[in-house]
Amino acid sequence: MASGFAKPRVAILISGTGSNMEAIIKACRDGRLVADPVVVVSDNPGAPGLKTASRFLVESFACPYRRGAPREENEAPVTALIKEHGADWIVLAGFMRILSPNFVRAFPRRIVNVHPALLPAFPGGHAIRDALQASADYTGVTIHIVDEFVDHGPILAQVEVPIYPDDTEDSLAARIHAAEHDLYPRTLQQLFFEDV
Ligand code: GAR
Repeated sequence: MASGFAKPRVAILISGTGSNMEAIIKACRDGRLVADPVVVVSDNPGAPGLKTASRFLVESFACPYRRGAPREENEAPVTALIKEHGADWIVLAGFMRILSPNFVRAFPRRIVNVHPALLPAFPGGHAIRDALQASADYTGVTIHIVDEFVDHGPILAQVEVPIYPDDTEDSLAARIHAAEHDLYPRTLQQLFFEDV
């Protein structure tokens, strides 16, 4: 029987492994996150996450970026897929491209990102390495709404992750990923239903 309740439709953008994407899809499947992952899009055709998405029967597409092409041109097929699938939210899960201001403006307050540091500390593409090199005692995870600046926008949730003296980039990354996989689905559920 139709309940009249439509679950939020989520497009997930990835560039690589897609472990956060997998954590989000699993949370949708077991009811911790009340949402429909309707499409996964990667700028990288070799992203292992594309295969994982297929394994979970989520439609997935590669939209390879052309080197030197304007950002808007590279984003056009991504935008088209998001619209064709009627996504309400765009969830960045290790999507390593900077979004154009036009893209961000097309989906105001509807794009969410996970970053492996306590923003505003350690923005950029090497946040885990940067925190280790800075000999910080701790780093963490940030979930935020995306605005027109890089790794910037209203913060929805953060969690600290300790850095131990014998940590390597791999051991710290593993601890950060575990924190992300817990925090990201929980924060999305709050965002979609509690207006955080
Ligand atoms: C995650 O740690 C995410 O925080 C990071 O990429 C990783 C992707 O892992 N994102 C950024 O650094 C964005 N600036 P995954 O593909 O296994 O989810």
